[in-house]
Amino acid sequence: MPPTALHSKKLPLTEDCLHYDNIYEVPHDIQKYWYQRYNIFQFYDYDIRLTDDAWFGVTPEPVATQIAKDISPTTLSHTTLIDIFAGAGGNVIAFALSEKWERIIAIEKNAATLACAQHNAEVYGVLDAITWVHGDSFEYLAQAKGDPSSLDETIQIDLATTTVFASPPWGGVNYKDDEIFDPSTMEPYNLEFLYKACHPMEHVLFLPRTSDIRQIARLVPDGAKVDVVQYCMEGASKAMVAYMPAARN
Ligand SMILES: C[S@@+](CC[C@H](N)C(=O)[O-])C[C@H]1O[C@@H](n2cnc3c(N)ncnc32)[C@H](O)[C@@H]1O
Repeated sequence: MPPTALHSKKLPLTEDCLHYDNIYEVPHDIQKYWYQRYNIFQFYDYDIRLTDDAWFGVTPEPVATQIAKDISPTTLSHTTLIDIFAGAGGNVIAFALSEKWERIIAIEKNAATLACAQHNAEVYGVLDAITWVHGDSFEYLAQAKGDPSSLDETIQIDLATTTVFASPPWGGVNYKDDEIFDPSTMEPYNLEFLYKACHPMEHVLFLPRTSDIRQIARLVPDGAKVDVVQYCMEGASKAMVAYMPAARN
């Protein structure tokens, strides 16, 4: 399915776009996340929707807000931000609320998850501040880099003025068990794959907190500066975020 800009179109909520009011409704493996629901979305009670899968990957609001503060257009000419894994909207809503970007594009391949993100963005009053794309981010990036005119005009980008934010699924070898997590084992997209897809542009990678910094350093050109930041909540790191420079090679 080619990446499709949704313009002002809102995908319909499906039976997978759920709002749990009561712990008795919540599947067992999601209950610990549900107890943190107001940390995840402070306006949870205003009918925030998530698919059952989205609970595992959504970025909690305080972390998303801080990341949105920290990602500034590094040069005044950076005007577009693309969230290539929009999920249920945790990060992209915070980016829109920061009001720093002329344009924000959010891409998500799962229709029910994207419907949740759009609905949640509406709860936060930023639905129309985001250009929504239903499709595969890597197809989108390949087209944006190689054949931009094949994309709808509303989602064409200038690589020199665009920052990419990537919070990929963290599947693969269980990152929670490793003292140092090897991001080359991340599935379905490992660190090198993500870097190759994004690297002509400045990009920001949201990774497991114990990710091996040496692997990140190996990717960038000599002399490049990479900021690596731990984002914490309630006394524990939730994620490591690597701020990767643009590299034209
Ligand atoms: C960890 S979640 C992102 C969570 C998001 N940052 C949030 O706060 O809600 C990763 C998301 O990427 C989506 N995804 C995975 N592969 C994708 C692809 N190739 N293109 C677009 N979306 C993809 C998944 O469906 C999932 O919703």
